[in-house]
Amino acid sequence: MTATALPMIRFQNVFKRYPNGREALINLSLDVASGEMVFLTGHSGAGKSTLLKLLALIERPTRGSLVVNGQNLATVNRSKIPAYRRQLGMVFQDHKLLADRSIFDNVSLPLVVANTAPRDVAKRVRAALDQVGLLKYEQARPVELSTGEQQRVGLARAVVTKPPLLIADEPTGNLDPDLSLEVMNIFRRFQEVGVTVLIASHNVQLIEHFKARRIHLEGGRLIEEFPVAEQPLFDPARLIDTAHLADREST
Ligand SMILES: Nc1ncnc2c1ncn2[C@@H]1O[C@H](COP(=O)(O)OP(=O)(O)OP(=O)(O)O)[C@@H](O)[C@H]1O
Ligand SMILES: [Mg+2]
Repeated sequence: MTATALPMIRFQNVFKRYPNGREALINLSLDVASGEMVFLTGHSGAGKSTLLKLLALIERPTRGSLVVNGQNLATVNRSKIPAYRRQLGMVFQDHKLLADRSIFDNVSLPLVVANTAPRDVAKRVRAALDQVGLLKYEQARPVELSTGEQQRVGLARAVVTKPPLLIADEPTGNLDPDLSLEVMNIFRRFQEVGVTVLIASHNVQLIEHFKARRIHLEGGRLIEEFPVAEQPLFDPARLIDTAHLADREST
């Protein structure tokens, strides 16, 4: 990256105080370069979801500036929000699929809303389903799919508009270790083709297995940054072992 290249995300001295007085983010400054994969960690209530909501324009900062893909979000008024969100793929823990619609229909929704030509819709939906390995399920209903498969449908829907930025809030929160790894690997593949990826996650064991930058929030402040470091070679057996330890702790 050259010194003049704009980052995909730039938070500058951002504060977020909710109407009840909660200070969810305090003086947050952060750059995420284009094409980077970044994990956002922190205890419950640290401000992870709030940070993602500011990016998605679900919430607005109280103070400070936020620039995404060259746009100052303060200039994106309500009428421009839908167009802004098409550059942003969003994935949540609860994938919120429409139960009475096929997988194809669920994934096509962002394109239909954007008035995409039907021929292009079909092509893009199939490409997105292919990327998450679910092409054969296009006519199925969400209930016919496993939790992990449903999460992958959510991911296909997030990327169907080919956004340059993908944000995810606890995307593996409901998944077992194997499926979590599978979903994270899909995020990694999107990063490999140039998408900027920002993932909030509690799953430290899983994060440690990915060679990615990690940003840690505590009480609304960015307190630590773990840069990309040399990581041990990936060993799935180790991941599963540590996951069992986590299971034991919670029972
Ligand atoms: N809509 C809201 N109104 C008031 N306070 C809120 C609202 N949303 C979040 N908060 C508060 O802001 C702080 C940060 O919340 P946030 O949801 O960003 O945390 P988080 O890191 O995502 O936590 P978790 O890991 O539990 O999802 C918390 O103190 C929370 O209670
Ligand atoms: Mg959260």
